[in-house]
This record gives sequence, C-alpha cells and structure tokens, in this order.
Amino acid sequence: MKKVIAMLLAAVLCLAAFTACGSEAASGDKVLVVGTNAEFPPFEYIGDDGEPDGFDIALIKEIGKKLGMEVQIENMEFNSLVAAIGTKIDASIAGMTITEERLNAVDFSDPYYEAVQYVIVPADSTIATAEDLKNKAIGVQMGTTGETIAFKIEGAAVQSYNKALDAVNDLNNGRVDLVIIDRNPAKVFTQKFEGKVIALEGAQFEFESEEYAIALPKGSELVEKVNQALAEIKAEGTFDELLTQYIDSAEVE
Ligand code: ARG
Repeated sequence: MKKVIAMLLAAVLCLAAFTACGSEAASGDKVLVVGTNAEFPPFEYIGDDGEPDGFDIALIKEIGKKLGMEVQIENMEFNSLVAAIGTKIDASIAGMTITEERLNAVDFSDPYYEAVQYVIVPADSTIATAEDLKNKAIGVQMGTTGETIAFKIEGAAVQSYNKALDAVNDLNNGRVDLVIIDRNPAKVFTQKFEGKVIALEGAQFEFESEEYAIALPKGSELVEKVNQALAEIKAEGTFDELLTQYIDSAEVE
C-alpha cells in the first residue's frame, strides 16, 4: 500500500512539474509572445537579416529583460492584432494609438510616444488644408487611425491597403491623391520617393495628436509590470538611446 501511495505521489509531482515547465522556454525564461506589423518604419520593419527590427521591437525586448521574459515577435497584419491579444499573442507593440474603440477590447500600457497623422501628396500638389482633402481618393493602411480619419472626410474614396508602403506606391502611380499615415513612417516613406512625394504636417489639417502604447489583454497583471519596466527604462536613459538610434536617425531633415 505504501508503495502504491509513493508511486501515485511521484506521478502527481511529475505532472505538476511538467505543467509548470509548459510555459517556459529552453533558457528557463518565460516567453512573451508579442504581435507587431513590421510595415511601419522606424517603429517596426524587417531588418536586413529578415527579422523584425525597429524602435518598438528594441523597446519590447528591453521590457522583456526587465520582466525576465524572452520576447518572441509575431509579425502579422495590423488589422488582426487587437483581436489576437489574449489568444494568439500576449501583447502587441505596433505604433498602436490608444483609441476608445480599442479600449473596449484591450488594456493599454502608459503611452510611450506622441504621434500625429501626416498627409503624403505628390510633390507638385496644391493640397494644403482640411478643405482640400474632400472628394479625394485617399490611401491608408487597413485598420489604422489614418483610415478612421479618412472615412470621416466628406466625399472621400478610401482605399485601404494591408501595407502602408503599397498606398504610397499607388500615390506615386497616381492611383490615389493622397495618403494619410503617422508622421514618422510618412517621413521614411517620403524619403524612398524623394522629389516625387512630400509629407505635410498634420496640424495643417487639424489632426489631433495620438499616443502610442503597448496593448495587453483586458485586466492583465502585465499592465502594471510593463508600466514599471517602461518607467525604469526611461529613468535609466535606455529609452532616449533607443529614440536616438531608431527615430532620430530615420529623419534626415
Ligand atoms: N498609429 C496608427 C494606429 O494605431 C497606425 C499604426 C500602424 N502600425 C503598424 N505597425 N502598421 O492605427
């Protein structure tokens, strides 16, 4: 009888140990699966080595270090990120603006970057005010705040693309009249088509400022931990180093 109990006990212990090991990586660190859409330089793009890189990727890796978690990046469509949080991914970092609508589905960390939408137009365009945006063919990335703004413009024919760069390509080919996209990628994409397209400041069109934050499952205990890590990364100066490395270097002006 004693033997049987000992065997049962051993089996239970094994099982417990096995389950505990389930969420751990080979290194012993827990894995944080983070979704992004690597089509948004300088925040996220595919690096020369074929792996996602950029400010957001570097930032979430620093946060992972603080949490003692190994960060695993999942590159996916921007439009499917929010729905994937809590199921396919543990979090998302994607230059994602805090919006009322998204707050219905997810929690956000403290904001880490202030942004605004810009308007990319052909270099010879006369578009200059909010009024000029009416009745135009507007290219945007699907599911973005740029798309939300475009939908509200009177008479707009909105063309949504999976990749923002495709919208800029179509602007260059004359298939759309303008592209609405966040400031920093607008600057990077404009440089790719130097002399052909220009990026106009959002203030000209009365676009409101936006805040990027990390999206997490609603009610997740990770929110506090991520905020704590973010605060430390800022206090230690690492945050500013990443800004210099990824954001400032992407701006030629
Ligand atoms: N800030 C905008 C938004 O939240 C655009 C973000 C697009 N990000 C990306 N990685 N493609 O909707």
